[in-house]
Amino acid sequence: MTRHLISISDLTDDDLHAIVRRGAELSAGTAEPSRALAGRIVGIYFRRTSTRTRTAFSSGALRLGGQIIAYGPDDLQIRTGETVEDTGRVFAGMLDLLVARTADSPSELRAYAGHGRMSVVNAMTSDEHPTQALTDLTTMLVHFGRLEGLRVRYVGEGNNTATALALALTRIPDTELDLRTPPGYGLPAGHLRAASDQARRYGARITERHDMAELSDGVDVVYTTRWQTTGSSKADPDWRQVFAPFQVDDAVLAASPKAVFMHDLPAHRGEEVTASVLDGPASIAFGQAENKMHSAMAVLEWCATGGRAR
Ligand code: CP
Repeated sequence: MTRHLISISDLTDDDLHAIVRRGAELSAGTAEPSRALAGRIVGIYFRRTSTRTRTAFSSGALRLGGQIIAYGPDDLQIRTGETVEDTGRVFAGMLDLLVARTADSPSELRAYAGHGRMSVVNAMTSDEHPTQALTDLTTMLVHFGRLEGLRVRYVGEGNNTATALALALTRIPDTELDLRTPPGYGLPAGHLRAASDQARRYGARITERHDMAELSDGVDVVYTTRWQTTGSSKADPDWRQVFAPFQVDDAVLAASPKAVFMHDLPAHRGEEVTASVLDGPASIAFGQAENKMHSAMAVLEWCATGGRAR
C-alpha cells in the first residue's frame, strides 16, 4: 500500500514510534542508512523558502540511493494555470515519491496523493509541519533516551510547528505540553481540541495559557519558533507588542534550570529568542536541525517500504 505523510494523524502509533526510533538510530550512528530508494525518483517541490527541510529530504534521498528532481516556485505549469489534479496525475506516472512545501492548505497534497502510486510527504502546509514534529521527537529521544514522561514548554505562536508537535506529543503517555501562546495567536481551536482529546486517551497532558506567568520548574524542554512563520503575515500592525513578552530569554530558561532549549529554526536573535539562549549551553537547536536529515531518511524509508503499485 502506498504510504503518505500529510498529517501526523495519518500515522499509526506503530508508524510514529518506528519513524522516530529509526531517525534516532541514524542520528546516533548506531545503524546504517538503507538503500531503500535505489532505483526510485523523488520529486522535491518547494513553493516556499526552505533551508533545512528541502536540504534534509534532498540529501536524505540521495543517501538512500534515490535520485531527485527539484522544482522551485515558478517551475511547474501550475504557475500558468494547469490544475493540481492534472499535475498530480502526471507526477504519479513518473515519480515514486513527492516531497512538497506549499504553505497552503493540505488539500493540494491530498489531491497529489489521490493518484495512489506516488507517496506524498508534507514538507509544511499552513496548518501543520509534520516532518518537523518527527524531527523534534527524534531529537528528544536522542537527547533524553526516552519520550515517555517528558515535559515540554512551547512558547510562541500556535502555528503549524506547534500544531504538529501537539498532535505528536499528546500520543506519548505521561508527557506534558505547556503551551504559552500570545493572546489571539493560540493553537487553532480544532487542533487544540483534537490534541486534548488525544492526550486524555493516551494519558498525556496539554494546557494552553496566553501569558508567561507561573512558569513551573521541572520542564525538560523549552521550545520556541520564529514569530513570522514561513509563508504567513499578520494583519495586526501592532503584533510585535503582543509577542514581546513571549521572548525566550535567560529568565524564561532559568525558570527550568534543567531544561534544554529547542528551536525549529530559522531564528531571529533578539525577537523570539535571545542570542544568549540560542547560542548558550542549554541549546540543542543546531543538533535538532541536523536531525531533520536523519528524520527525513526515516520518513523516506518508511514510504519506500510501504510497497508500490508501479
Ligand atoms: N524548520 C524548518 O522547516 O526549516 P526550513 O524552513 O528552513 O525548512
